[in-house]
Amino acid sequence: MALNYLPVSWNGQKKLYDWTIAGLATVYLVIFCGLQAVLFPDVTAETIIIRATSTLAFLMLHVILIIGPLCRLSTRFLPLLYNRRHLGVSMFLVASVHGIFSVIQFHSRGNVDPLVSLFTSEPGYEHLSQFPFQTLGFFALLILFLMAATSHDFWLKNLSPRVWKTLHMGVYVVYGLLVMHVLLGVLQQETATVYTVVLGIGMALVIGLHLAAAIVSQRTDSRPLGQAMDGFVEVCDVHEIAENRAKTLMINGQNIALFRYDGKVSAINNQCRHQNGPLGEGKIIDGCITCPWHGYQYLPHNGQSPPPFTEKVETYAVKCISTRVWVDPTPAPPGTPQTPALLNGQ
Ligand code: HEM
Ligand code: FES
Repeated sequence: MALNYLPVSWNGQKKLYDWTIAGLATVYLVIFCGLQAVLFPDVTAETIIIRATSTLAFLMLHVILIIGPLCRLSTRFLPLLYNRRHLGVSMFLVASVHGIFSVIQFHSRGNVDPLVSLFTSEPGYEHLSQFPFQTLGFFALLILFLMAATSHDFWLKNLSPRVWKTLHMGVYVVYGLLVMHVLLGVLQQETATVYTVVLGIGMALVIGLHLAAAIVSQRTDSRPLGQAMDGFVEVCDVHEIAENRAKTLMINGQNIALFRYDGKVSAINNQCRHQNGPLGEGKIIDGCITCPWHGYQYLPHNGQSPPPFTEKVETYAVKCISTRVWVDPTPAPPGTPQTPALLNGQ
């Protein structure tokens, strides 16, 4: 995992994911360009490319943004999350084609430098209806470039997961900039209604799914806990946890994943060391808790990645009294071994 900064090896699932992205993107481009050529025979090839790549990139951005909340709402969507970074980089490449063609088409034919022209050709910053919307696209593309350039695990390791995550939350800033880019852009065109309606549906989907996922997480986090004894809190019945799976808990600000396996129960911190993936949504494979996002693994009794990997998460003391599970929410330092609670034949 930390070795050579290559946590996720190239495998069949990743290849399938990438081929699916490439296949669907090609189908979209062919259909979109074909329809444009038939419906608008006067439109130039450059304009068709600008429109096809812009709408494809924006569509891909919507998919990227809804994958997270969909996975919170149902584990069936987890396979979409597995290689989301490649989807992001592909989206940046498609958006770059749109940006480059737009600069060439609209700003490279005069005697002003194309980038200067981008910022000065429409001096309507004080009027929304004349606002130079292309500058918003430029800044969105700049942020997307930074995200794509740092998407490799080398940067995750060097920037630290916290800084890396903060940088990659920039995708929401990008979304805001692009919504304004499209809205202000279409305000200045005749095709406004179609674009505005489609944009409205996209925004409703993104915002609605984020809200739904937040409500579900909030309900899970605020489940009433049982009684407390000697620092342990009664959290659930052992039958509420499926074999080789986990139940997640939020106690005293601790995000805990409680795993049941081989007649035992162990508790570790729910956040994966890689990119804070939800370990409690993963399962135990070959005796290791396996992160659902990219497959980092941890031993349930000590929260350590099996050798030669070195990642460690916090662990928690657990005990079972009859069929009830009790957890001490005081975290032990990452990698601390804990004696698993035995289920005594339940
Ligand atoms: C340097 C950066 C960019 C420039 C100069 C630029 C320029 C333009 C221009 C000139 C249009 C109107 C095209 C037309 O008249 O048909 C447009 C529309 C659009 N742009 Fe951008 N853009 C940039 C970045 C982006 C990025 C990063 C996205 C990301 C998805 C994007 C998405 C869109 C969308 C969805 C539309 C509306 C559909 C269309 O009419 O093509 N743009 N942009
Ligand atoms: S493996 Fe990537 S977040 Fe866990």
